[in-house]
Amino acid sequence: MHIYNDKDYWQLLHRDSFERNNLRPEISASWQRSYEYGISPEMLSPPMCEEGELQIQPNMDYILDVAQPLCEQMLDYLPDDHAVLILSNQACVVAVIASDMVKKCFEQFGMKVGACLAEEKAGTSAIALGIKLGQPLQVVGYEHFAQFGIRHGASFAPIRDRRKVVGGVAILGPLEAYDSKILGMAQLASHSISSRIGIQRWNYLIDRSISDGILAIDEEDRIFYMSKQCHRIMKVPEQNTYKLPLAEIIDPDRPENQYFWTLIKEKSQVTDESVLLSIGERKEPVNCNITITPFDASVSDWSVKIIVIQEMERINRLIRNYSGNSARVTFDDIVGTNPQFLNTLYHAKRSAGTRSNILLLGESGVGKDVLAQAIHNESPRRNGPFIAINCAALPRELIASELFGYEEGAFTGARRGGNLGKFELAHQGTIFLDEIGDMPLDSQAMLLRVIEEKTIVRLGGSKSIPVNVRIIAATNKDLQAEVENNTFRRDLFYRLGVIKIIIPPLRERTEDIAILSQHFLSVLCRRFNLPKKTLSPEVLYAFQNYSWPGNIRELQNILESAVQWSVSPIISKNQVEQLLPAIKPSPQVSIEKIVDPEEPLELKQIKACLAKYDNNKSKTAKALGISRKTLYKRLDKYGISSS
Ligand SMILES: Nc1ncnc2c1ncn2[C@@H]1O[C@H](COP(=O)(O)OP(=O)(O)OP(=O)(O)O)[C@@H](O)[C@H]1O
Ligand SMILES: [Mg+2]
Repeated sequence: MHIYNDKDYWQLLHRDSFERNNLRPEISASWQRSYEYGISPEMLSPPMCEEGELQIQPNMDYILDVAQPLCEQMLDYLPDDHAVLILSNQACVVAVIASDMVKKCFEQFGMKVGACLAEEKAGTSAIALGIKLGQPLQVVGYEHFAQFGIRHGASFAPIRDRRKVVGGVAILGPLEAYDSKILGMAQLASHSISSRIGIQRWNYLIDRSISDGILAIDEEDRIFYMSKQCHRIMKVPEQNTYKLPLAEIIDPDRPENQYFWTLIKEKSQVTDESVLLSIGERKEPVNCNITITPFDASVSDWSVKIIVIQEMERINRLIRNYSGNSARVTFDDIVGTNPQFLNTLYHAKRSAGTRSNILLLGESGVGKDVLAQAIHNESPRRNGPFIAINCAALPRELIASELFGYEEGAFTGARRGGNLGKFELAHQGTIFLDEIGDMPLDSQAMLLRVIEEKTIVRLGGSKSIPVNVRIIAATNKDLQAEVENNTFRRDLFYRLGVIKIIIPPLRERTEDIAILSQHFLSVLCRRFNLPKKTLSPEVLYAFQNYSWPGNIRELQNILESAVQWSVSPIISKNQVEQLLPAIKPSPQVSIEKIVDPEEPLELKQIKACLAKYDNNKSKTAKALGISRKTLYKRLDKYGISSS
């Protein structure tokens, strides 16, 4: 092409539409569009993009992460007066890579971060066309539509992410140095960036789907990779940690962190070690499980350690889920209308919201277990763990290790890697110490320490692990008497029994027998897939006059047998007596409590239930084990207004 002066020729092109036929077709088409957009050819620099436009571009951060170092490397191979620009998919300049002098020089033409080179804003340019057409191309001096471009030559190649143009690389140089080979370099760079973006994307997805944190450090303990989850688990704010000394995050001078650093300094593999990490200003250290795998220079280019960090809380949650340790019962599942019992429930419900430890007292089978679960589910800890341990069911020598865990080698037979105790499992939740009266004195002393210090030390260990646990203890023993006998520590008795809840035995709440029976019958019939059954008035009478040493559990067991044995829908006295001859009138029950079998007991129950549930019909029907429809029929029958 015949060019003596770019500017003169450029002016000629703008003056003479006929001359524009000599432009390459894609350039002349772009000029045409630029005229239509109303762009002024006299423009001395491209406009800046709208505020925030640079940030809106999704994933630009990681595109830049990949592109920037590559473009910096490329600069070494380019003539000194060249600049490399990284563009977003909107043709906005997101980075300018050049020497300071060259950068300044290009700034005069408005080529700086934030400049927008989209065709509709700045007319024909390599960047505008390259982004629009999604192909590599070069545009020289006079081919630029606006004046700001006519002094340089530009080569552009698009960056793609899964075939979509997400930006580009442009190499700009003075017109005199224009060289078609430079387009090849731009293409090589963009190609390399595009494929790295693919890998980066996988890393990004994998990083987000692994719940464990991954940390990689070099031989000088500097971080060169820290996954997102790692930030989250260690509660380190998101920041650029590349090449940051790990000691700046996990301070080796803090006593809690010393064990972690001992493990890091070990040359060999470390598997599943529980460590505490004290990070930043936070008071509570984070409890983690870590695995460290060292790689020497023969495997990777240089010595590295990969540290996999698991959240202890997550591991604990898994253990709880698989071991079936959870509280299912709520106050709505607890049946009863006896005023004294209702008072107990009221008291328990109110205590649930407090932080105090609770002691549940009552005979065997009165419902201590269910009440403990209901309290947990009513408390602010309801989403935390509920860990139950029966102190009577464990051999004495195992109680302490069950409760507090142990370190490897704590005693003969101790599992490798040690073991987590129930207190650690119950962190942020409730621990239910059933049959506390059977706890040996040495364990009582340890328990007292946990209550006072709110930390545990595993058997054979030395670290104090903070635990935030509410204790609900239960016993059917007379703890006060145990205290007098010196078999139960007085101080512990007071610490556990900040709130004491006494559950009355079944024989003292005879009015509950009917409603409990009905409740169990409907549950049992549903479970065994049988038609509904009820008790005959005589059976109820007998039940109400029995002393129930096994309390509710005994009643439940008797009904379970009765349901399976009786063929008729009404369970008769005959059948029950046949099954369980133990049922005979109890001398302990006072005559006032005996209910006249002829009296419509049902009415009493309904009234009591309505009172308990604030006249709520659904709850009343549920408690009575009947449908709402049936309840309304009965209300009608007894002439009770159903409003
Ligand atoms: N108020 C109630 N409403 C419904 N079911 C109840 C009620 N109280 C207890 N139960 C049931 O009775 C049975 C015994 O209750 P639980 O195990 O809670 O008693 P406990 O006092 O812990 O007994 P133990 O002293 O033998 O451990 C359980 O099956 C429970 O579901
Ligand atoms: Mg129990």
